[in-house]
Amino acid sequence: MITGTELNAEIKRLMAGGLRAGCMARQFPDVAELTFRINNLKKEKNTVICAHVYQTPDIIYGVGDFIGDSYKLADDSRKTRADVIIFCGVHFMGETAKILNPGKKVYVPSANAGCSLSESITAEDVRKLKKRYPGLPVVTYINTSADVKAESDCIVTSANAESILRKFYEKHERLIFIPDRFMGMNLAKVLGKIPGKDIILWQGSCVVHENFDAKTIAVYRRNYPGLAVLAHAECPSDIIKAVDFMGGTGDMLNYIEKTNASGYLLVTECGFGELARIKFPEKNFIAMCRLCPYMKSITLENILEVLENPRPELEVTVPSDIAVQAKRSIEKMFELAA
Ligand code: 13P
Ligand code: SF4
Repeated sequence: MITGTELNAEIKRLMAGGLRAGCMARQFPDVAELTFRINNLKKEKNTVICAHVYQTPDIIYGVGDFIGDSYKLADDSRKTRADVIIFCGVHFMGETAKILNPGKKVYVPSANAGCSLSESITAEDVRKLKKRYPGLPVVTYINTSADVKAESDCIVTSANAESILRKFYEKHERLIFIPDRFMGMNLAKVLGKIPGKDIILWQGSCVVHENFDAKTIAVYRRNYPGLAVLAHAECPSDIIKAVDFMGGTGDMLNYIEKTNASGYLLVTECGFGELARIKFPEKNFIAMCRLCPYMKSITLENILEVLENPRPELEVTVPSDIAVQAKRSIEKMFELAA
C-alpha cells in the first residue's frame, strides 16, 4: 500500500514533469497511485517503457522512459540494457522492438493494440505483388506485421520515408510502396512521381487520418489568421494540400519547436495535441483530432498488470526465420536514414 507521504511525493513528481489536472481522464491521486507502483516494479524487474506520442499524458509523463515517434522508439529499443521492454504503442511497434532485441522479453499491454494499416496487407499479398512486378524493390512503411517486413527490401517511417525513397529512386525507376496509399500518393507528389507508374501502391489506410475534412481547415484558417496547420503524412492528399506542413509526429514536434506561429492546428491523433500542450506550454494549439482506438487500448492498469502478472498472450513473439528476414529490412532503414 502506498503511504500518504509517498502519494504526495508522487503527485509532486508528476506535476514537476508537466502533468496537470485537466489533461487526464481522472484525478491526480488515482493516477499517482498507479504510476508509483509501476515505476517501483519497473526498477525491481529491470524493465523500460517505450511510449509513443499518441499515448495518454499519464502514461507518457508518468511512466514512459523512452518517448517519441515510431523511428525514435525503434532506435531507442536497440540501446536499452533492460531485460524487459513494455511497448506502449501498437503491436507492430512491439514486434519491431522484439525483432531488434531477440534476447529480451517484449510486451504490448493490450491485445487490442492493432493498426488498420498493419492489418491491410499480408505476406502473401506482398509475394503476389512481387510476382506481378518482378525486380521492383519493396519499400514498406513500418506500420506492418513482421511477416510483411520479412518480404520487404527496406522499412521506412514517416520520419524518413521521403529521404529513403529518394535514395531508392537514384538506382531504380520504379518501386513498390506499401501499404498506405495516402502516404504513397503524398510522397509521389513531393518526389514528382506518378502513382501506378513510378510507384506501385497498396490500398491500405489509417482509420484515424483518412477521416479529416479539408473544409473545416479552411474555416479555422478564416477564423484564426496566422494559424500554422500541420498534418500527419497518413492524411489524404486533399488535406495535405490544405496544410502548411506534412510529416511524421517527430517532424511536427520539430516544426512547432522551430517556428513561432500565433497558433497551431494539429491534424492527427488526439494524444499528439495533449503532448504538445504540455511540451510547449507557451504556445497555442487547436487539436482537430481523432482518437486511435488501438493506441488508446493501453492504460496504466494494463501496464501494471504486465508488471505484476504478465498474461502470456501479451508477450510479443516472432518466429526466428521471420525475425531474421524482417531485421534485414529494418537494418536497411537504419543504414539509409543515418
Ligand atoms: P509516427 O512514426 O509519425 O509517430 O507515426 C506512427 C503512426 O502510427 C501514425 O499514425
Ligand atoms: Fe495505425 Fe492509424 Fe492508429 Fe497510427 S493512428 S496506429 S496508423 S490506426
